[in-house]
Amino acid sequence: MNAHRTKVCIIGAGPAGLLLAFILKTSGIDCLVVERQSRETLEKTIKAGVLEHPTIELFKQLGLGDRMMQDGAFHHGFELAFGGQRHRIDLMDLTDGKYIMVYPQHEVIKDLIAANLAAGTPIYFEAKNVMLNDISTSQPTVHFKQAETDFVITTDFIAGCDGYHGPSRQAIPADQRREFTRIYPCGWFGILCEAEPSADELIYAQSDHGFALISTRTPTVQRMYFQCDPNDDVTNWTDDQIWDALQKCVHNETGWRLKEGKVIQKNIVAMRNFVCETMQFGRLFLAGDAAHIVPPTGAKGLNLAVGDAVVLSRALIERIMHDDEEGLKHYSEMAIKRVWRGEQFSSWMTDLLHDFKGEDPIHRKFRRAQLEQIVSSRSAAASMAENYVGVPFARA
Ligand code: APR
Ligand code: PHB
Repeated sequence: MNAHRTKVCIIGAGPAGLLLAFILKTSGIDCLVVERQSRETLEKTIKAGVLEHPTIELFKQLGLGDRMMQDGAFHHGFELAFGGQRHRIDLMDLTDGKYIMVYPQHEVIKDLIAANLAAGTPIYFEAKNVMLNDISTSQPTVHFKQAETDFVITTDFIAGCDGYHGPSRQAIPADQRREFTRIYPCGWFGILCEAEPSADELIYAQSDHGFALISTRTPTVQRMYFQCDPNDDVTNWTDDQIWDALQKCVHNETGWRLKEGKVIQKNIVAMRNFVCETMQFGRLFLAGDAAHIVPPTGAKGLNLAVGDAVVLSRALIERIMHDDEEGLKHYSEMAIKRVWRGEQFSSWMTDLLHDFKGEDPIHRKFRRAQLEQIVSSRSAAASMAENYVGVPFARA
């Protein structure tokens, strides 16, 4: 048995856990990270790809932005495609100069792991059977096994950053949690393909064939999605069928088509909203997907995780360095406001762009009317743009 002590034991090395660890460690707070997967797996798993303006600025301020600034692609707008036409939403113009960046989440993970290791944060990869104990006492423990060795970490605080399926949220007694869920009757069929970009900016397409999103990863690898049955299986689809589905969704009057290429990865993304209130119990504090999930439309997931890590790090620093309890006491209510804003926006944007099986045809008409309003009214477009580039992090 290997026994250690720390101030903050962080469970999960996703964006939430790694960012929290980096901020704490570089502020002089002893912490460590316990992660189920290997470093190699984390650094190559394809996930989201959009950083909001506040996330970009934060990474730069923290000295985490070097590779991001070199390899990420700034996007000053995006397009809405519907009714056979493409319309540009000029983010810079509508938000007083804000923008987003396409920089894959696994690259963020690489940067955060490297920065943490350089700062001296211990990260226990491939930790099995992670268990949280005594979270309502002042000395909780986290038990796990790495290789053949059992570990016990005695800690002042636990940060549960272990995603939707991790053990942290379940450690909060069920009668203390209120959970809100919306499950969508569709999923996203996502591909990575070897092709040049088809357009300079992301395209969100609404069509009689359903929704599609044309995104990018690098100048030679593109990321695209189209709406699918959430229970479908990627092996049911040949490359030709995939391209046919995508081309139909973006079909437009100018004859413009997607540049096709070899499909190198396929996956189906489930779509749901989920929020757990509260995000704290005793000495346990949840951050990121452990407490909330958004549908991928609008790319809020990673950015909400970053927002939680910022609020939680501030509260822990105040408590540990200055013996000030206030921030920690109100962590959940502070963090959850921005979370609900992201949840509502993602839900709204999903409704705006997807057709749902079995719905009354009147909804397609409503959808089209709202899209027409967004592309013809500056205030409607500005509202969408303001949410899309990301709202500021919560402040005490
Ligand atoms: N023990 C230790 N670690 C665990 C356990 C466990 N039992 N269960 C899960 N984890 C780890 C996962 O392996 C993962 O690395 O917790 C981490 C959680 O990371 P994310 O799922 O990336 O969640 P988060 O940091 O909140 O970031 C949210 O990630 O999945 C995307 O769409 C999501 O973009 C959003 C972002
Ligand atoms: C992505 O590139 O994976 C992406 C981009 C925008 C979204 C969702 C996902 O809204």
